[in-house]
Amino acid sequence: MTRMLKLVAIGMMLVGTAGLQAQGAAKQAPAKGKSLYDRLGGKPAIVAVVDDFVGNVAADKRINAFFAATAADKDRLAKFKGNLVDQICQAAGGPCKYMGKDMKAAHAGMGISGADFDALVEDLTKTLDKFKVGKTEQGELLGVLGPMKAQIVEKK
Ligand code: HEM
Repeated sequence: MTRMLKLVAIGMMLVGTAGLQAQGAAKQAPAKGKSLYDRLGGKPAIVAVVDDFVGNVAADKRINAFFAATAADKDRLAKFKGNLVDQICQAAGGPCKYMGKDMKAAHAGMGISGADFDALVEDLTKTLDKFKVGKTEQGELLGVLGPMKAQIVEKK
């Protein structure tokens, strides 16, 4: 089994001990010249991460009310997850094109607070830790998502 296939299989089983570790991100220095997308494990790894992350959000009482309508409609949920995958893939330098709304339009009128945003980032970090994504890669990913806070948060 290739490293990538192994990674996907492990990700799909949601076993917390391996996952993106196969990319060697946890302990080694990042491979020079490799995009964040490649170091994360490519699209299958991002799909597995988004799946787990959305599961965390759905279980997070601090913010899951925002997603009640999304979680109740499986087509809407699938579309949302697909948009998140494309967005992360593109932001990480992968070959995807995010076709969803810009972050301001997507979250307009939701009344998302800074604490809500931080809770969501915490839920993502939980997933990244579970998949053994190295702190360097986590920092890079949050470095691209973090600046979106200004477009998403509407209140203190
Ligand atoms: C960096 C942080 C975030 C990113 C990257 C992000 C990304 C996205 C994306 C890509 C969409 C889909 C846009 C579309 O349909 O065209 C979306 C929708 C949404 N986001 Fe966020 N978001 C973030 C933070 C948050 C936070 C903090 C909340 C609430 C606590 C939130 C709640 C929602 C909801 C409720 C939707 C609508 C889902 C649906 O279509 O049913 N987001 N977000």
